[in-house]
Amino acid sequence: MSINMAKSQPMLEVVGLGKTFGGLAANADVSFSVARGSISGLIGPNGAGKSTLFKTILGVHRPDTGRIMLDGQDITQASQQSRCRSGLCCTFQISESFTEMDVRESAMVAAYCRTSRRSEARSIADAILTDLGLAARAGRRNSELNAFERKKAELATALATRPKLLLLDELFAGCSLGEISELIDILGRLNQRDGITLIIVEHVLHVIMSMSDQVIVLESGRIIETGTPEQVSTSPAVLKAYLGEDYNVDEHQQFRRPG
Ligand SMILES: Nc1ncnc2c1ncn2[C@@H]1O[C@H](COP(=O)(O)OP(=O)(O)O)[C@@H](O)[C@H]1O
Ligand SMILES: [Mg+2]
Repeated sequence: MSINMAKSQPMLEVVGLGKTFGGLAANADVSFSVARGSISGLIGPNGAGKSTLFKTILGVHRPDTGRIMLDGQDITQASQQSRCRSGLCCTFQISESFTEMDVRESAMVAAYCRTSRRSEARSIADAILTDLGLAARAGRRNSELNAFERKKAELATALATRPKLLLLDELFAGCSLGEISELIDILGRLNQRDGITLIIVEHVLHVIMSMSDQVIVLESGRIIETGTPEQVSTSPAVLKAYLGEDYNVDEHQQFRRPG
């Protein structure tokens, strides 16, 4: 394949993805594509199917229908480990997974996805911790960190796998305005400087609207709109189906259903 073809190929292509739990269609006929080096926002009310879609892309769930192409390769049947080696990662919940380890060790475990050498895993981990402003906390356990440091430690662990596509599920939840702006800077750097393609699930609207090249809107498991932030924020389908007839946006710029 020529370099030009590889460049124009989407980083991620999801075609007709469906996932049901019992009788409930958590995702139905979901199709979209994500350009290499772009930032996509995925929004929709609670229960719309955002996390299910992420988990299916990551290989936690098997889809009932459809296929997933990562960088031109069909990964629909691939294991989670193989997806990770192919450059697909999400923020790890290290608060649950690596409670006995310190921040550096957690990142090193993730770095072993790229190297079998301890010294190299350590230098990958340390470079990322420095970049995220966590170097001074490298020897601390997760339980000794504050909530924001824990989020950055989760991000550091994900980055240590050297992802080319990173999925972030509500990373900004519970952050102060100052922390949100620090995270926006960090993610902008990862995207612009390191070329990491990002898909962000987020309720804080100004984050999605300011960062995203495209916004995908899910409602009851189906995509109801895909477009630029401007297109989505003025889409009649989004205003009607997602926000309801008498929608409002609260003081935190979060969509609220009426009532
Ligand atoms: N493991 C599961 N088993 C059964 N139902 C699930 C499971 N995961 C999600 N669901 C259901 O699928 C729907 C979509 O959930 P989810 O993907 O978590 O939505 P969102 O992340 O947009 O809030 C919800 O109705 C939820 O209850
Ligand atoms: Mg969710």
